[in-house]
Amino acid sequence: MSPFKIFLFSALLAAAFLASTADFNSDVNVAWGNGRGKILNNGQLLTLTLDKSSGSGFQSKTEYLFGKIDMQIKLVPGNSAGTVTTFYLKSEGSTWDEIDFEFLGNMTGDPYTLHTNVYTQGKGDKEQQFHLWFDPTANFHTYSILWNPQRIM
Ligand SMILES: *[C@@H]1O[C@H](CO)[C@@H](O)[C@H](O)[C@H]1NC(C)=O
Repeated sequence: MSPFKIFLFSALLAAAFLASTADFNSDVNVAWGNGRGKILNNGQLLTLTLDKSSGSGFQSKTEYLFGKIDMQIKLVPGNSAGTVTTFYLKSEGSTWDEIDFEFLGNMTGDPYTLHTNVYTQGKGDKEQQFHLWFDPTANFHTYSILWNPQRIM
């Protein structure tokens, strides 16, 4: 495994991400979105929005080799069909490694699907899908990846 950067890209109308102890201003770059990604509240809140043409995203400034990443995310309510919010760890290069969390939007009242995958040496095929048993749009929820030399949880 190679060191990963943490990415969060959203094609959502308004997803928000919360920093509990760290500061988004010092820890991440808003890497994509031309002003649609914003860091607010002195670095404690990051919002990503989508307009008719494109979404927005950010990535960690630092690379990590193993760790536990807790991401507090609040997804957009209402009709989110056709949108994807994704939180992933990815190394560089053509035979990259990657760990994915993807939230697939749905029609108003229908559940989001959480789609996960793991890539090693550029090869995935380890998809799993879950329907969330709570409303991920009502509040921030913590989604975690634990990655150590023995396992990925
Ligand atoms: C949307 O909700 C329907 C009804 O529960 C479900 O069958 C479908 O898999 C969901 N689609 C996505 C993309 O989450």
